[in-house]
Amino acid sequence: MSSFIINGGQRLHGKIEISGSKNAALPIIFATIVTKGISKIVGLPNISDVRVALDILKSMGATIHCDGEAVYIDTVMLEYREPSAELVCQIRASSYLLGACLSRFGRAHLSAFGGCNFERRPIDMHLAAAVSLGARCENGELTAKSLHGSDITFKKTSVGATVNAILMASGAQGKTKIYGYAREPHVFSLIEFLRGGGAAISFCNDYIEIEGRELSGSCATVIPDMIEAGTYAVISLITGSELEISGINRQDLSSFFNALVRGGATLVFSGDSVFPQGIIDEFLSVTTAPHPSFPTDLQPIMAPLLAAFCGGRLTESVWLSRFGYLSLLSGFGVKYELNGSSATIYPSDLHPATVEAPDLRGGAALLIAALKAEGESRIDSAQIINRGYENIVNKLRGIGAQIKEIQ
Ligand code: EPZ
Repeated sequence: MSSFIINGGQRLHGKIEISGSKNAALPIIFATIVTKGISKIVGLPNISDVRVALDILKSMGATIHCDGEAVYIDTVMLEYREPSAELVCQIRASSYLLGACLSRFGRAHLSAFGGCNFERRPIDMHLAAAVSLGARCENGELTAKSLHGSDITFKKTSVGATVNAILMASGAQGKTKIYGYAREPHVFSLIEFLRGGGAAISFCNDYIEIEGRELSGSCATVIPDMIEAGTYAVISLITGSELEISGINRQDLSSFFNALVRGGATLVFSGDSVFPQGIIDEFLSVTTAPHPSFPTDLQPIMAPLLAAFCGGRLTESVWLSRFGYLSLLSGFGVKYELNGSSATIYPSDLHPATVEAPDLRGGAALLIAALKAEGESRIDSAQIINRGYENIVNKLRGIGAQIKEIQ
């Protein structure tokens, strides 16, 4: 358990280097179960979710070593073992064990997968994809003598179910087509990684097509974390700073950047950097939806920004009740009204508060409010924020923020 102590109200200056994406790194780590061999991954963020994922692989017999920049994962000697409940319950991405273990070993254990708990997180579509490829689901286990290709159609867009379907289909005999797939950049970076191990995967607008085969070790450079980039862009605007946010992939964030510009902000792009400037001078409405629309993981991040300027409306179409963090944000003086899957945020004077981080992005929203509010705030359970933001305290200190972490 740790806490952040923040003396807010400072203007910040300087450059933030964006780290590798959590949500791209995790599927690749679990995909090494399927790519039997030695895989090299460059740019893994040093965050607790990644460390837990690597520990899960080690507990199954993987050999992992690091040479500074790259992590090498050798999965040749991996054996099927029921994963440690204590590790699995810490991260959501442990659900990728379903697809990866079913693909490689023909069995996978249905565990209590962890991660942010902002609402119920079903896995019915993951299981339906497994069953459609020939697996049986009984007694808390998925089993299959062999998987065989088939057509999978998702009723709703799901990153996790798409990742698992790709992992399963990569080890199935014959062709699989996945309709209604998630188009997040991390889905495509997983596909690139699997292709490097010999996978036959193509995609068109309607479906991903996979011809299953045995895969070998591959390599990947983790793409930049678009949610981290969005978070620092909001920090730049709310604190009236002119930060350089560097190492971004502009296209991945186009719906977010468009929203900021619609609200009146100025974004100056140069190479792989963005300099967010100015103010939000209009009531700004955003609606989350799967990529390429506005990302749900930036919805909580927007709330303090809207409160500090002209207000706005946040509507969820992905996680319909992802608004639990708002009651904590009200501790900073944020005024809001919740109406189903929509929250109206009113212009508010932010003041310091002592609060507890409820989940990763909700916790980041509280931190943003604390950076804006003049005076000392405290955020308990800050380790939840460290789960997804590499080195956040030092990065913020490096641009002049007055923040420290205490145990
Ligand atoms: C991933 O979660 C991310 N996590 C989440 O980020 C992110 O919010 C989410 O995708 C949406 O972009 C990781 O990548 C580790 P989903 P995931 O399956 O895969 C419904 C963060 O803060 N659904 O795309 O679990 C579900 O209820 C985290 O970094 C079903 O109905 O999300 C939701 O409404 C939080 N049945 C929608 O799909 C299923 O079987 C999208 O969920 C699966 C999902």
